[in-house]
Amino acid sequence: MKVLVVGGGGREHALVWKIAQSPKVDKIYCAPGNAGIAQMAECVNIKADDTDTLLEFASKENIGLTVVGPEVSLMDGIVDKFNEAGLRVFGPNKNAAQLEGSKALAKHFMAKYSIPTATYAAFPNGEEAMEHVREKNGPLVVKASGLAAGKGVIVCDYMADALDAVRRVIVDKEFGDAGNKVVIEERLQGEEVSILAFTDGKTVVPMVPSQDHKRIFDNDKGPNTGGMGAYAPAPVYTSELHQTVVKEVLEPTIKGMAENGWHYKGVLYAGIMVTEAGPKVLEYNVRFGDPETQPVLSLLETDLVEIMEAVIDERLDQIDIKWKDAASVCVVMSAAGYPGNYTKGDIITGLDNLPQDVVAFHAGTNLNNGEVVTSGGRVLGITAVAKDIPAAIEKAYQGVEKVNFKDAHYRKDIGAKAIQN
Ligand code: AMP
Ligand code: GLY
Repeated sequence: MKVLVVGGGGREHALVWKIAQSPKVDKIYCAPGNAGIAQMAECVNIKADDTDTLLEFASKENIGLTVVGPEVSLMDGIVDKFNEAGLRVFGPNKNAAQLEGSKALAKHFMAKYSIPTATYAAFPNGEEAMEHVREKNGPLVVKASGLAAGKGVIVCDYMADALDAVRRVIVDKEFGDAGNKVVIEERLQGEEVSILAFTDGKTVVPMVPSQDHKRIFDNDKGPNTGGMGAYAPAPVYTSELHQTVVKEVLEPTIKGMAENGWHYKGVLYAGIMVTEAGPKVLEYNVRFGDPETQPVLSLLETDLVEIMEAVIDERLDQIDIKWKDAASVCVVMSAAGYPGNYTKGDIITGLDNLPQDVVAFHAGTNLNNGEVVTSGGRVLGITAVAKDIPAAIEKAYQGVEKVNFKDAHYRKDIGAKAIQN
């Protein structure tokens, strides 16, 4: 079978890496891909959000399975269009993807189905929103309702910060149309965990729990990024917590979606805050997380293509999904300046020198005259598998030491919280 992976970041490299291990697969294409992906797939120069050209390509090449990485493509309805053309594609359709595309809709959905989450209110204009902030007069989280590349969430300590955040979102439109509605939430305290699950709309099978590191600097300091590293499994996620999340979050979500006529197929990602009052949903994503996918798929034993086909055919209940009894850590190396402005085109060395059981998933790289160069803010995700988290941390950093590019930045504390737990 020929497989097409849509996207070109670290998540997509991990998807391609895992799909390449399937005996069912003869050839993999990736659009647009990157320099690392090019070593195991044929990269095609089509943007991830150019649905029509992707559809044309998949039809012409007789692609047997298309796997969609980024949320923008899903929200754009790539799954609906491929299905209409009779092509097999892994991911939720446009309606179901609204669970990530509109935070206001997601909050409304959680309220309707009693799924635990922070209390909230949503406003279409600044005045009412500011009035609400004054009434609350405490720590709040202000969010642009639409897609804002992970940047439209402002965690506020004081009323003045929240008023300013409302202005940025809905008056100044700092996040564009994503800020046409503003969501204001109670601020939760606790540790975060990412629960990704496979679902065919009837059965839901959680993957190993993982934890992202969103801030740019050690000890969770500095601005939010797309994610500076991740590890799995996350010990904060106890088996008791797991039972609660399955019963109170994952199952009601799938059921609620179906009741609304939004049959959900693909990966459902619940961002969970483990609070003293139990787990609460911070957000839904409708896709694999980045960088969580890198350690999570590193631990998956079962053939991913087999799972994806079972999801598409709605027979997930018939598959036994197995995980390695091990741990995985991914340390992201980023370009200096990220998440602000950063340089591109710097030569990367040492990628051929990695220790055993360490994989460099490429996030923002390009080939330039045969050399691998930086081309994005997040450049590489150095990912190790070992018997436990401390061993995986050690191995991942041994890998990081081997790799060089100008002013490379990485956090030194990826996985540290797992050891505290
Ligand atoms: P989101 O994109 O909605 O997951 O928000 C991004 C990040 O903001 C989360 O990973 C949390 O660190 C933080 N956050 C979001 N909502 C809340 C909340 N209600 N309370 C505390 N922190 C939050
Ligand atoms: N790591 C967070 C995300 O993929 O949205």
